[in-house]
Amino acid sequence: MSQEQWTAVDHYINGLLLPPNAVLDAALTSSVAAGLPAISVTPNQGKFLAMLAQVQGARRILELGTLGGYSTIWLASALPANGCLISLEAVPEYAELARANLARAGFADVVEVRVGLALDLLERLVAERCGPFDFIFIDADKENYADYFVCALKLARRGTVIIADNVVRDGTVIDPNTPDPRVQGVRRFYELVAAEPRVTATAIQTVGGKGYDGFAMVMVSEGPNDE
Ligand code: SAH
Ligand code: DHB
Ligand code: MG
Repeated sequence: MSQEQWTAVDHYINGLLLPPNAVLDAALTSSVAAGLPAISVTPNQGKFLAMLAQVQGARRILELGTLGGYSTIWLASALPANGCLISLEAVPEYAELARANLARAGFADVVEVRVGLALDLLERLVAERCGPFDFIFIDADKENYADYFVCALKLARRGTVIIADNVVRDGTVIDPNTPDPRVQGVRRFYELVAAEPRVTATAIQTVGGKGYDGFAMVMVSEGPNDE
């Protein structure tokens, strides 16, 4: 099995199941043109996230790590008419491009991109009592995933779904001695999730156009914002 084959199969799947979408394509094209790293979710992963959010009936979505807004557009497309999405991004230039991409997709009034370090912005969301969110996508710097999970829980309710991207990283996640601080961050995330009695969780390994990685899914069974 090779990267070439995973990419070819993604093309096959996407060709059949994902109709061409000009605003999603434009988000990617503009991101490449602006020199952003090509680390957004793949198209079929984006649709998978959107379908999860829709199955969840999510009206309020929180995203950590906007980049050019590609996953953001997918998630926003899952919202009902009165829904809203807040996305957090550290790099002002990325946030600016994401806002333009979201506006072109018709989501200027649905999505708020907040600029800053996600940990600071999350603290503010907690202080502002901005929760609860129905669906939370963690995709910012991997070093802080454990802290992001703690904050996400504070912004959750019973039934909130938390998805974390990049939790396998070519399988390096099983190495307890890895020198990679990103992988260490993901391992701390798993350990915290495993030790948290108020959630139930799983993770799925994935292959595709962006290599071998995985998603974690955490469902909150008891949150601080329960009725
Ligand atoms: N969710 C996007 C990809 C996000 S890539 C998609 O799939 O389309 C990760 C993003 O997290 C990058 O844009 C990076 O700038 C941002 N990031 C990294 N560290 C951060 C931090 N401490 N706070 C907020 N955002 C951060
Ligand atoms: C990378 C991939 C991601 O999906 C992400 O969110 C951050 C970084 C990467 O491959 O470096
Ligand atoms: Mg990611």
